[in-house]
Amino acid sequence: MESDLVAVLRCPVCTDGLALDDRTARCSRGHAYDLAKQGYLNLLPSASNGIEGDSAAMVGARTVFLGTGHYAPIRDALILAAGLGEDDVVVEVGAGTAYYLSGVLGTSQRRRGIALDVSKYAARRAAKVDPRIASVVCDAWRELPLVDGAAQVMLNVFAPRNAAEMARVLAPDGRLLVVTPNQQHLAELVDVLGMVSVDEDKERRLRDSLAGEFERVGSEPVEETMFLDRTAVEQLVLMTPSARHLNYRELLQRIAVLPEPAMVTLSVTLSVWRRTSSTHQSP
Ligand SMILES: C[S@@+](CC[C@H](N)C(=O)[O-])C[C@H]1O[C@@H](n2cnc3c(N)ncnc32)[C@H](O)[C@@H]1O
Ligand SMILES: [Zn+2]
Repeated sequence: MESDLVAVLRCPVCTDGLALDDRTARCSRGHAYDLAKQGYLNLLPSASNGIEGDSAAMVGARTVFLGTGHYAPIRDALILAAGLGEDDVVVEVGAGTAYYLSGVLGTSQRRRGIALDVSKYAARRAAKVDPRIASVVCDAWRELPLVDGAAQVMLNVFAPRNAAEMARVLAPDGRLLVVTPNQQHLAELVDVLGMVSVDEDKERRLRDSLAGEFERVGSEPVEETMFLDRTAVEQLVLMTPSARHLNYRELLQRIAVLPEPAMVTLSVTLSVWRRTSSTHQSP
């Protein structure tokens, strides 16, 4: 983990800034956090222990599925919408394997990314993906362990949204890019495989969850027909929350009767948000 990135992190106990001393991040009041062997920093307050993020199996499935490139249209749309400068810091909340974050950083070596996730399995993976990314374990529903205005761009892709904290951490002129699934997303698989379906009110819930802190300045659909072989279908299901309640053998039986390749709709909305001027004025 690069020490310049540790400088935008803050202590989850006292909110003082952190600095890296060998393999330990410390604040001026003596709170210390050791870098894990796998390269990530755990900044989860001990009171949050036990909170569930994605399991090792879900992270494994996500790594394999995203590696197939079927979700590349989402990553490409994020790259365009981010419009990054050469020295920008990008924070992804609920980053998973940091697939989108590393894509958005592009080729500039001066850009930096911070991947936040509560799952240590995700954090391990994110720590390995790209040396420009600092991987941090934290709970997105609590105060984020980042200094005010740390990020020029924030990403939130199928992930929890804590509007007040995302607004605090975003630079005043920064942009928040949110990806949410549309009703048609994976529609061909939802009923047949017994997956969790997309809530009809997703759009309203997105607005409600960001209201007061952010205003929407743009929105675009990202749509594609994917042609998935059975392995891709299996990994796609196993990386979602549906993995928690589906019986694996039954899932394989249901996948076995799908045509191969299966035509599956990718349909998400990428929306762009800015902080509302009434909140978090710069000094
Ligand atoms: C559906 S996955 C999306 C991952 C990544 N954005 C992607 O699209 O590949 C949701 C991620 O949010 C993480 N997550 C769930 N609850 C969280 C929380 N309270 N704080 C931080 N991350 C959380 C999970 O561990 C998981 O990696
Ligand atoms: Zn401290």
